[in-house]
Amino acid sequence: MNLTANSFIKFYGSSIGKKVIVALTGLALIGFLLGHMIGNLKIFAGPDKINGYAAWLHSMPSILWIARIGLIVCFVLHIYTTIRLVLENRSAKGNRYVANATVKASGASRAMVWSGIIILSFVIYHILHFTVRVGNDYDGYIDASGRHDVFRMLVDGFSWWPASTFYIISMALLCWHLSHGFASVFQTLGLRTERTWGLIKTIGYAYSLIIFIGNCSIPVSILAGWISY
Ligand code: HEM
Repeated sequence: MNLTANSFIKFYGSSIGKKVIVALTGLALIGFLLGHMIGNLKIFAGPDKINGYAAWLHSMPSILWIARIGLIVCFVLHIYTTIRLVLENRSAKGNRYVANATVKASGASRAMVWSGIIILSFVIYHILHFTVRVGNDYDGYIDASGRHDVFRMLVDGFSWWPASTFYIISMALLCWHLSHGFASVFQTLGLRTERTWGLIKTIGYAYSLIIFIGNCSIPVSILAGWISY
């Protein structure tokens, strides 16, 4: 085994190494959320814009797959490393209610784990819904230009209120998770100072609120009939 692999294993074996991995993968996922939301908001500009955007993404399969693999690696590492940290903390302290020090308060730490589990179920459901498109004929939705009709798929998908409700509840949990995780990233990476801590927390709350409002605006607008075809 070479030196780099050895150093990584040693780093990952330490508690601080794991916290840094959780923080860096969390940061990448936070960035993905903003990019994905900005892309999805094109629905407000009409079918041509959102269908064109999706067709553009799918016109570069190699880049799309590199991004997908990067995303999966970050997601799996984020979850797996968090589980390892929680288990290590429990066994080290001999108390199963002892929290992960990254998040400080034990109540918030447990809620981070539970909200994380629900977010994971949401992501699995979401991929089956709109990417794999199981249990519906969304694959047959083609627009006048011969592109996949993402606009119609979203309108039909969110017109079913139980699906929209599940999205909105998941967004609330996701944004709560994000608002706590955001500040933890800076703390773990040693970028927290007495002077900037308040500002970092405020930016974290504002970022989470933007993601919540932006993502919920789509199912809400469809249910309200403001977006239709
Ligand atoms: C209301 C909000 C959202 C809408 C309207 C939406 C819409 C979509 C659509 C249409 C796709 C399929 C893209 C395609 O195949 O062309 C997709 C894929 C995906 N979404 Fe979302 N999404 C939303 C929120 C989220 C959130 C909050 C997350 C993460 C927590 C997320 C994660 C993903 C992932 C991982 C994919 C698979 C990407 C791929 O491999 O193609 N989405 N989303």
